[in-house]
Amino acid sequence: MPTQGVRVIEFQSVTKRYADGTVAVDSLDLTIDAGRITVLVGPSGCGKTTSLRMINRMVEATSGTILVNGEDIRAQRPATLRRGIGYVIQNAGLFPHRTVIDNIATVPVLLGTKKAAARRRAEELLDTVGLPRELGKRYPAQLSGGQQQRVGVARALAADPPVLLMDEPFSAVDPVVRDDLQEELLRLQSELGKTIVFVTHDIDEAIKLGDKVAVLRVGGELAQYDTPATLLAKPVDDFVASFVGRDRGYRALGFLSAHGAEVVPLSTIPLGSPVDEARAALTGGWGVVVDENQAPLGWVSTSSLSTVEGELRSADLVAGGSLYVADSPKSGSLRTALDAALSSPSGVGIAVDSGGAVTGGVTAESVLKALDEARRSGEVPS
Ligand SMILES: Nc1ncnc2c1ncn2[C@@H]1O[C@H](COP(=O)(O)OP(=O)(O)OP(=O)(O)O)[C@@H](O)[C@H]1O
Ligand SMILES: [Mg+2]
Repeated sequence: MPTQGVRVIEFQSVTKRYADGTVAVDSLDLTIDAGRITVLVGPSGCGKTTSLRMINRMVEATSGTILVNGEDIRAQRPATLRRGIGYVIQNAGLFPHRTVIDNIATVPVLLGTKKAAARRRAEELLDTVGLPRELGKRYPAQLSGGQQQRVGVARALAADPPVLLMDEPFSAVDPVVRDDLQEELLRLQSELGKTIVFVTHDIDEAIKLGDKVAVLRVGGELAQYDTPATLLAKPVDDFVASFVGRDRGYRALGFLSAHGAEVVPLSTIPLGSPVDEARAALTGGWGVVVDENQAPLGWVSTSSLSTVEGELRSADLVAGGSLYVADSPKSGSLRTALDAALSSPSGVGIAVDSGGAVTGGVTAESVLKALDEARRSGEVPS
């Protein structure tokens, strides 16, 4: 990762008291890692936006110190500081009377880049955020919510700042688009290596995006600052436990590799096999029917084959069950393995290699055993 542009951000005992006496942030100590996504999460009014805006001095701290790359931000002119910090908000905050391209090019032009060069760069940024260049000529109102949000991200990236602050950028779009935008952000981050501080009140979004997650409680106190896996496995108190949710144990499985779960042999039966052969090949009353590449097509069982004659056809198969990849080091998580076992009509989840060929099966029992072993070895705090 390039060291130039790396920006570590440090809150040292930072308090914000607004003029009316509201303490929005209370003695916050937080170190935000360079080149990572740090998520601030917590209920409405807990001081997320205030904390974020103190980083670029849109809000001035009442006491305490904020360092960016080791330098006190009060020693820097806000305009200079903000040049290195992109800012993305909900509903994108685009200028309605400027085209998409001009929206993206605004800051570089203000900073002295020639208009033609800034526009060329803006077009490249449309590619970066996954939008077709044709959209550049439109006005924000002529875009969908998700497209506007992508333009907002492109605009924040235009001056190539090492730091991006994002305040609930995806909360106004529907869940499907939101999921796309989250995936896109993870992809962008892996390519660009920005230091991203992301605010949300949605714990699922926090856990999906954050390398580390800071949970704040109302009154602006930091309740816990940890990796998503630790947050789920070991919440420090009842507030965090209830905030991360009741199914946190199940979600924690998402952070453990399924590599540890035992894969048992499964009978695989080529489509088109004689039904008699298929019956003879079943283990425990079940078998997986595969295509010529050993990819799974569905299940057959003693009872599903009881009325079938001749050769095995697609119509004879019992559908259902998710798959998981058991092909170290590309293994899926224990959660995908458990899901495969629980969703399978046979109770055995189908394990495939990264090419999609069946390698065996996994039971819920073996997933739980792997979890237990991970706990014993200290891989997850119990
Ligand atoms: N300009 C202001 N003057 C006075 N109080 C303010 C001001 N801005 C925010 N507050 C108060 O500070 C506290 C924290 O607000 P902040 O906007 O930082 O919360 P938040 O966590 O971002 O909330 P939300 O999830 O609703 O966006 C709240 O009690 C809020 O009412
Ligand atoms: Mg807010």
